[in-house]
Amino acid sequence: MKPVTCTRDARGVLTVGGVPLDELAERFGTPLYVMDVATIRERLAAWREALGDAGRVYYAGKAFLCRAMAELVRAAGVGLDVVSGGELTTALLAGVPPADIVLHGNVKTRAELELAVDAGVGRIVVDSLEELPLLDELGRRAGRRVAVLLRLTPGIEAHTHEFIRTGQFDSKFGFATLGGAAEEAVQAALECSGLYLAGLHAHIGSQILDVSPFAANAEALMQFARRQYDRWGWWPEEIDIGGGLGVSYEPGDDPPTPAAVVRAARERMAEWVPPGRAVPILSVEPGRSVAADAGVTLYRIGVKKRVPGGRTYVAVDGGMGDNIRPALYQARYTAEPVGPPRPEREVVTVAGRYCESGDLLLRDADLPRLEPGELLAVFTTGAYTYAMASTYNRVPRPAVVAVDRGDARIWVERETWADLARYDRALGSP
Ligand SMILES: Cc1ncc(COP(=O)(O)O)c(C=O)c1O
Repeated sequence: MKPVTCTRDARGVLTVGGVPLDELAERFGTPLYVMDVATIRERLAAWREALGDAGRVYYAGKAFLCRAMAELVRAAGVGLDVVSGGELTTALLAGVPPADIVLHGNVKTRAELELAVDAGVGRIVVDSLEELPLLDELGRRAGRRVAVLLRLTPGIEAHTHEFIRTGQFDSKFGFATLGGAAEEAVQAALECSGLYLAGLHAHIGSQILDVSPFAANAEALMQFARRQYDRWGWWPEEIDIGGGLGVSYEPGDDPPTPAAVVRAARERMAEWVPPGRAVPILSVEPGRSVAADAGVTLYRIGVKKRVPGGRTYVAVDGGMGDNIRPALYQARYTAEPVGPPRPEREVVTVAGRYCESGDLLLRDADLPRLEPGELLAVFTTGAYTYAMASTYNRVPRPAVVAVDRGDARIWVERETWADLARYDRALGSP
């Protein structure tokens, strides 16, 4: 979907956050990531309202994170899900209270765990048995019990792309609830005097467009929790169902609201609560559903090529370096010229500038007729684009500019050619 503020001005030019996109391209260059602050605020508020006081929202920074984004998330009263020392450092620099941070990762280094424990991160999500003794030691050294969740794979197959499906038993993440691995992890965690087992977590995949997998996930976690209660007397304080809510990349994608997801999950929780115990706090970790719609990527068209008997290619000054998703998992997008609407249309393939034939941003898209020199806006690019950007071909990563009520501010500066050589050492240097 387009950002909530997206419209066309009197000239017919696309504007976002009250700023015409041609002005942004002029001022900051292309390619350019544009983030609409109003859309981010709206999505964070929707999640917060959906969870209410009996739930927690941790925005998943892996979708899109920089210091200003972390500050915006904090200002919205939302916590942060981080997955590396880099994301954690960004969150801490932004002043996110450590208690509102949850740390993930299927391979966390000792340095990352030390940073998290020293900072007082609210929750560490344990992904493997190897992590437990290490965390236990750090907890005992710090003289307190470190609060952990166990990441489980409850065997729920969300209907989404294989690369972004994570809840099935055969996964590199977490402990399978089938075959005893998860139970073994509960027992091991309960035996650690440096740890406090606060709850259970499962993230089942991404770009999910239906409430039922979320409900099934909540129920599977509760069912597992109840078995643990009956066995060890342990009952979770928190049940975290991860992220995964999809967005509308194309017409026909129709995601449910955060409120519908939360309602469906909660409906399945109460029946598993043992007598005298409270319903656990429900937590969520939305990433894509907060950031994706806010983002528009601006490109300048450099080349138009008609292949006789083949396709018509419109090639832009960015591509897989700033948005790997089409090449990685055939992700589809919509686009429009930034300039005024026109009656003529054409089926074109929008190609990137990188040295890979698979560097195609849109395949066979029916678009208004485009010419070299024009600006093209690709929508719904706020999540997993900048966050996954590379410098392939030594092409610098674009700037991120945030727009809000007519104001445009740089959130991340554009890299330069010289930046890319900055860490290089000359041949023979020590
Ligand atoms: C543990 C965890 N939480 C949250 C998310 C965010 O998912 P999404 O962006 O689909 O909401 C992910 C994504 O991979 C994840 O692995």
